[in-house]
Amino acid sequence: MNQRKPFMAANWKMNLKRDESVELVKAIAAQAPDPDRVEVLVAPPFTSIATVKEAIGSAPILLAGQNMHWEPQGAYTGEVSPPMLVEAGCTHVILGHSERRSLFGETDEMIDRKAKSAVRFGLTPIICIGESLKEREEDRTTEVIEAQLRGSLKSFTDQKRLPPAVLLAYEPVWAIGTGETATPEDASQAHGVLRTRLRKVLGDSRAVATPILYGGSVKPENAAELMRAPGVDGVLVGGASLDPVSFLAIARAGVPLT
Ligand code: PGA
Repeated sequence: MNQRKPFMAANWKMNLKRDESVELVKAIAAQAPDPDRVEVLVAPPFTSIATVKEAIGSAPILLAGQNMHWEPQGAYTGEVSPPMLVEAGCTHVILGHSERRSLFGETDEMIDRKAKSAVRFGLTPIICIGESLKEREEDRTTEVIEAQLRGSLKSFTDQKRLPPAVLLAYEPVWAIGTGETATPEDASQAHGVLRTRLRKVLGDSRAVATPILYGGSVKPENAAELMRAPGVDGVLVGGASLDPVSFLAIARAGVPLT
């Protein structure tokens, strides 16, 4: 039986000032789906996190940072630490988003350090993994996503210390912000590869409990179909999460139909 609760996450990226963030999260909170049946999370830009936390109040919406440094403090101009995210109200942090990897040079080794540090400070990492168009065309998807997964969780494997919880987000780079979505079959196939690899890295029971989200041009029109794809436990939504009506429609597509 699938013990993973559907997980519907919004990545606001570098969008929305504070008052716009508050307006959006309040609109989501007003109609958030039943938290017993689906988890909803938002990841605002750093400057809005604390204000969004206040606006959420007791509504069932989780909060994540979009990135962090691995050190708890120090001379790292422009960076934000795990304890700072915790203080602002985050329970989760997105790590290794393809925009971080491609635009800011993040490597699997850096993501591994960040994941280890996130867990140390009580944050649940959402680790993003995905192949580029070139890699897909060269038929290297499996090899690339397996290597990213291994590299991003290396410390946990080496030290045989399992994180209390971790989420993966399969985000094929060619589908992010492009309007191109992976087919449900593509998503299932990649999620299957990640789950199999995860068994080797984290062991069977942890691998079964780990949600794997799909990200890349998720919209109200394709969310239900993607959620029905075997192995897809949730979504990580960029563009369509900036509009409350479309994000709520997507979030509702996560509610199981029992
Ligand atoms: P998109 O972004 O939904 O705009 O494609 C997804 C993501 O980058 O997490």
